[in-house]
Amino acid sequence: MADKHTLEDLALFGGARMFPAPKPTSNLVRPDFDKFLDYSRVFFEHHQYTNDGALVKQLEQRLAAFHQTEFCVAFCSGFWALALAISALARPGRSEIVMPSFTYRRMADIAAWTRLKPHFCDVEESTLANSAATVRPCINDNTALILGVHPIVNFCDIDGLVDLAKERDIPLLFDSVESVYESYAGRKIGCFGAGEIFSLGASKLVNGFEGGYLTTNDAQLAEHLALIRGFGFNGPDNVAVPGGLNAKLNEIHAAMALAGLDDLEDQVVRNRERYLTYQRLLAPLKGIRLLEFDESHRPGYKNIVIEVLDDWPLSRDDTVSLLNAEMILARAYYTPPLHRKRMAYPHVPVALPVTDRLAERYILPPCGHLVSNEDIARIVVFLGFISANAAAIKVRLQQREALK
Ligand SMILES: Cc1ncc(COP(=O)(O)O)c(C=O)c1O
Repeated sequence: MADKHTLEDLALFGGARMFPAPKPTSNLVRPDFDKFLDYSRVFFEHHQYTNDGALVKQLEQRLAAFHQTEFCVAFCSGFWALALAISALARPGRSEIVMPSFTYRRMADIAAWTRLKPHFCDVEESTLANSAATVRPCINDNTALILGVHPIVNFCDIDGLVDLAKERDIPLLFDSVESVYESYAGRKIGCFGAGEIFSLGASKLVNGFEGGYLTTNDAQLAEHLALIRGFGFNGPDNVAVPGGLNAKLNEIHAAMALAGLDDLEDQVVRNRERYLTYQRLLAPLKGIRLLEFDESHRPGYKNIVIEVLDDWPLSRDDTVSLLNAEMILARAYYTPPLHRKRMAYPHVPVALPVTDRLAERYILPPCGHLVSNEDIARIVVFLGFISANAAAIKVRLQQREALK
């Protein structure tokens, strides 16, 4: 089973790559093709490709039922779902949005579109997400909105953030992109805060090629967002809300997402198998810790997160470089954190010691539809090989560095 026997076998040092095609961290799940075509027939035969078509309506109804909320509004992306929901909810006249820095790398761009300044908060070491305790010190008279962001494994502090938002009378929006499938306190994720945002991108649990949606129980918010995503028009040329734009989901994306929803339960079984394979094979490997899902929340197991512990003999970044050279497209998890990026737009300068430390420790290894259990076994054997040969690898890496 071992692919590597000597240092020369490592692709970073000139050896053959382990995989001819990339093993990604992107889900890239595909529904049954005939099912996708069956849904697509609806828009194709009726010549209605967009503008609140039958499939988008059906998708919104199914997603609202899935998340146990009254309303669901679909968008062309999670990005625009977030930007438009933030704009709709932010307290007028205030300038800051509190959000984690250890998060999705485009989050600050979303804030920039809303013309709010990111006020980055720290995260909890135990959840890798923001909490009432990390958000509270960032709240001031300028706080327009709190963004709670669920991490890849388990949740952010839902109850604490809901209570804090109520106490300070500040709207709370959840980015629940990573927690689509889960339940918390007996309710599906989707119904907490003023609203929750999800993505239908190809790397997500429900693949609509692209797309996003908001779930909410607030009728006014749902109505406003449904108007604003479609130019703000209510009937031809009647501008009901100013500032509208074209952020609609179209019918073919809805067809793909609907077919994906039909396959969701089976997909989660497959994802869980991959997760359990990682769990079983990584257990004996010293220095690497798998972040475990809390199975009581019924997770979707879409991504895998591993922590590089102090006794792992290589740095996180060297480990990722060695993996990437083999076409194992492992990713450093949230590096650099957003407050460390060079930003051309305004933000509140902050020091975030926990985020800084955590940003050096995590790896997303390959997962999803293009990764088999055999691939995982080979990847874990590879990790064992580089760990066992770490001292010699470090010497080689230093020599390479000196030659640059
Ligand atoms: C946590 C998080 N929020 C928001 C988004 C934006 O979603 P989209 O890619 O659909 O614009 C992403 C995308 O990866 C994400 O990971």
